[in-house]
Amino acid sequence: MKALITGITGQDGAYLSEFLLSKNYEVHGIVRRSSSFNTGRIDHLISKHTSDGKLQLYYSDLLDSSSITNLINNIQPDEIYNLGAQSHVAVSFQNPILTTQLGTLGSITILETIKHLDKKVKFYQASSSEMFGGTSKELLDENSLFDPKSPYGASKVFAHDITKIYRESYNVFGVNGILFNHESPLRGETFVTRKISKAVGRIAAGIQSKLTLGNLDASRDWGYAKDYIEGMWLMMQYDYPEDWVLATGVTKTVRDFAEEAFKYVNLNWEDYVITSEKYFRPNEVDYLLGDSSKAREVLNWKPSVDFKGLVKIMVEHDINEAKKDFTLLKDNLISPTWEYPKL
Ligand code: NAP
Ligand code: GDD
Repeated sequence: MKALITGITGQDGAYLSEFLLSKNYEVHGIVRRSSSFNTGRIDHLISKHTSDGKLQLYYSDLLDSSSITNLINNIQPDEIYNLGAQSHVAVSFQNPILTTQLGTLGSITILETIKHLDKKVKFYQASSSEMFGGTSKELLDENSLFDPKSPYGASKVFAHDITKIYRESYNVFGVNGILFNHESPLRGETFVTRKISKAVGRIAAGIQSKLTLGNLDASRDWGYAKDYIEGMWLMMQYDYPEDWVLATGVTKTVRDFAEEAFKYVNLNWEDYVITSEKYFRPNEVDYLLGDSSKAREVLNWKPSVDFKGLVKIMVEHDINEAKKDFTLLKDNLISPTWEYPKL
């Protein structure tokens, strides 16, 4: 089996590559050119598979439709996972046009290309719980209404709808995975869970003194990324292309996450966390809670890590990272940063 992944250098792309390689897939991935290396999450896979050709990377960009189309035509993959995006909701308010272009052009380019291929290629679209908008405290499933609150959310609604339209109009095997928040040690450092776990590790090591957050009342249904990757693959193996929700069914506030993370190192979160307007958004998704009954019943999918377990995995990882930073600091190889990240 051959898979093509956009967004292979991101959190989900890295775990998905590892998962597919373990299933003996040939994995092809799109990497965008940047002035510094952006393959840190998959470097271990690159070293392992340079000689056997099981992992092949190409410079491309979701905005370069002709390059994406050429790649699909040349590779002739069996499955395409469209994970590439400007995935930070707050940044989508600062860069709304780019976020929208990336979120919409990538999906339609791939779907158009697949439509013209003789081969039946399966397509996975990374849809998001952000599409629901989260204004009421309802349990959200595949039939819940979308009411996006950000340029990011709106672009995801377009990609979701166009996938459904190509499925219904042209019989394309287009799957929408509506994934609720999923986290891990590979999570980008400006998303709130990782920002907290990273700060806890650094505060415990004595190389950070405070943590500035935004809205502590926001509530999210947080799961473990590796569980969600398996769910993506299961959706693609099902007999029919459909929409699927993946979620834990438990929602916690940002405050709960901070409290649990600091508790892990026997510290009181209130002694370290301050809030700043800087991290509030022009519009907020207040509450997300998912109902993944369909995936649990039909795909036999279920999350293996609960909220406490997730916090533990992330904090333990970041304590070890901070110990390395502390050693470098002690040897004067890096200078102290009392708060991290600055963005
Ligand atoms: P991520 O870590 O932010 O990764 C995003 C990926 O997209 C990176 O590989 C990034 O490349 C790539 N990318 C950005 N701009 C691109 C461009 N112009 N052309 C090609 N690739 C580009 O996101 P993630 O957490 O793995 O999420 C994967 C997908 O699932 C995203 O579409 C996200 O919106 C969606 N999603 C995520 C969650 C979640 O909780 N994680 C939930 C629902 C849906 P660089 O490494 O070079 O930046
Ligand atoms: N990033 C961030 N930084 N968020 C903060 C902070 C902070 O300092 N303080 C409070 N928050 C709040 C945000 O306002 C939001 O309500 C919540 O924490 C979660 O923010 P993020 O971790 O940035 O994630 P997100 O829910 O906005 O978006 C993620 O999940 C979506 C699925 O629902 C991203 O991965 C999206 O790509 C994904 O689609």
